[in-house]
Amino acid sequence: RSNKIIAIDGYSSCGKSTLAKALAKALQYLYIDSGAMYRAVTLYFIRNAIPLEDTARVVEALDQIHIDFHSQPEATSIYLNDEDVSEEIRQMRVSDCVSEVSAIKAVRLAMVAQQQRMGRNKNIVMDGRDIGTTVFPDADLKIFMTADPKVRAERRYLELKSKGEEITLEEVFENIAHRDYIDTTRRESPLVRAVDAIVLDNTGLNEAEQLAFVLDYL
Ligand code: C5P
Repeated sequence: RSNKIIAIDGYSSCGKSTLAKALAKALQYLYIDSGAMYRAVTLYFIRNAIPLEDTARVVEALDQIHIDFHSQPEATSIYLNDEDVSEEIRQMRVSDCVSEVSAIKAVRLAMVAQQQRMGRNKNIVMDGRDIGTTVFPDADLKIFMTADPKVRAERRYLELKSKGEEITLEEVFENIAHRDYIDTTRRESPLVRAVDAIVLDNTGLNEAEQLAFVLDYL
């Protein structure tokens, strides 16, 4: 492989995508948000009332799902069957069940295959939960991010509030704790630090400091 791959994994809402975007911009790599793909699948399942325990229906639904990223200079949008769902996938009704959907083996197999295709022959930064362990175990650099759960909840709360979502800090905290629990305890590729990942705890670091930390390391 001649292309470069940077894998960023870690807990919910600890700034993975912010760092990943900054790195991609600094290095001129393509940024791919793997969590957005699981969120798009979840949105499709909600809209079509797919019962998660019905494997046949889940597999059938996965066949109907086509996910694409469209990159503009300043932002990347995600398309679910040609519809821009970038905003909708961030809503709490999606966050509330995305971890249950992401724990399903058939869902993971479909997403991992697509993620591996997207990383073929391109320099990429991809963030998620299993990028350094399952999707690209041979990534050139693996970063495992973590931050104080209270700080994470506050950051996400302010972000959702600014988008007009009616929500309390407690609800955000609960959702993050719930997703972390499912993501770390599921059977299929649980969230775990790859042995060769560098750990970045960004509780007390601003965005510029985090970027500098990684660029120094590189
Ligand atoms: O990254 P984000 O928080 O948007 O991801 C939403 C959810 O998708 C996570 O809580 C996790 O359950 C799932 N996910 C995953 N594997 C990935 C990325 C996300 O299981 N690589």
